[in-house]
Amino acid sequence: MQLVIASNNKGKIREIAPLVAGLEVLSLQDIGFTADIPEPYFTFEENALAKASAIYQFSGKNTFADDSGICVNALSGAPGVISAHYSGERDDEKNLQLILTELKGADDRSAYYKAVICLIWNNEVYYFEGVCNGQITDKKTGAGGFGYDPIFIPDGYTQTFAELSLEIKNQISHRGKAVRKMVAFLNEQLAVGEENSVI
Ligand code: IMP
Repeated sequence: MQLVIASNNKGKIREIAPLVAGLEVLSLQDIGFTADIPEPYFTFEENALAKASAIYQFSGKNTFADDSGICVNALSGAPGVISAHYSGERDDEKNLQLILTELKGADDRSAYYKAVICLIWNNEVYYFEGVCNGQITDKKTGAGGFGYDPIFIPDGYTQTFAELSLEIKNQISHRGKAVRKMVAFLNEQLAVGEENSVI
């Protein structure tokens, strides 16, 4: 079964790939899509739908898109949907430094990552969501992950997502949770037993 992933974000794709290992996942490069996909909306759901629809229309193939971000409670949920370019630039280092500056001296450092997957499957739209709660550190630590991972410690752990392995991140992350829900849905849709399940 082919499924297009409507993303060029290498960090996301690296995380999603092992979770959908039983599917033939096509990248935007595989389908020859080179343009930028606009994400003009104020909710993860709308942006995920915009990305999935653009690629579904282009390719005619079943498609999913993830829209995600980090929401900091002391910043009224910012950066949220603008996480990728919070500092005004698509620059992970500048973006995370801005949060560290804004939280200087803050008592409440709680935050959560949220991911919404929009799947367009046989012309119907489905959503799957995942949330991961944690705390923002006061300095960056670790070299793995991407985006805000060097400043985010998930609840129940003492290391940042940039220090934890990909396996652990995928077990507890917003994206891991959302992707597993989608995979469970796809297995149900295929209405098959063990031998034909996608994972
Ligand atoms: P978008 O979904 O392409 O709009 O961008 C999501 C942005 O949210 C990324 O570019 C990161 O800045 C941030 N983000 C989402 N998920 C993660 C994650 O798992 N780790 C670190 N940053 C993330």
